[in-house]
Amino acid sequence: MINRSAFHKLSYGLYLVTACTPDGKKVGCVANTFQQVASEPPMVSVSLNKQNATTQAILESGTYAVSVIGQSATMDLIGLFGFKTSNEVDKFAETQHEMCSADLPIVLEHCVAKFVVEVRERVDVGTHIMFVGAVTEADVAADDAPMTYAYYHEVLRGKTPPKAASYVEEAPANPASEAAPAADAPKYGWRCKLCGYIEMMDELPDDYTCPICGVGKDMFERIEL
Ligand SMILES: Cc1cc2nc3c(=O)[nH]c(=O)nc-3n(C[C@H](O)[C@H](O)[C@H](O)COP(=O)(O)O)c2cc1C
Repeated sequence: MINRSAFHKLSYGLYLVTACTPDGKKVGCVANTFQQVASEPPMVSVSLNKQNATTQAILESGTYAVSVIGQSATMDLIGLFGFKTSNEVDKFAETQHEMCSADLPIVLEHCVAKFVVEVRERVDVGTHIMFVGAVTEADVAADDAPMTYAYYHEVLRGKTPPKAASYVEEAPANPASEAAPAADAPKYGWRCKLCGYIEMMDELPDDYTCPICGVGKDMFERIEL
């Protein structure tokens, strides 16, 4: 038997994995699957979905950088890198970053440590590719506490999109919306400008937060149903 709840007992951090395409475009995504796998020499791995723009860039370049993000990281930063694709938006246009000596972008916002990795093995694990690599650069950027996956879920009330390695399908956020429209059905919906989630409701309560990416009411725009 496989009890899916057992996976909820696993602990992770939260990272921004970044890379460059052969034509120099900067790409990156959130990953919770970055980890150290050997110490001498220092080796790490990250598991990335084959559909991610970042995965394709790493497959072509054979190298990636990682920012370990601190607990002060905002949902805006996590939403940009974790719910949008570099195929559609330039994630670095308004994100403070530096170029490392290997010519990879490293996000500096809320960064507590940074790594540069040279890929040694690509392991096909089905939906994802695990990139095992040698650390070529590593440094501490701040003394702040690193963000944990548990903190992200419990304190920031963040969600995990289906493409993440650790995604576990949840019940529909609003099952009533799938039934036939009732006479008193809402006339308006609200679309999250960050992740695209739609909430069917005439007015959102002031303390409303997006069940997908966690942003507040001010990030929603009203749409006609
Ligand atoms: C909390 C969180 C954890 C995530 N972990 C992973 C992960 O480990 N592997 C992965 O492939 N995607 C993960 N994702 C999803 C990617 O960040 C997301 O699909 C992103 O939009 C891909 O961007 P890209 O197409 O620009 O590469 C995670 C997202 C969030 C919010």
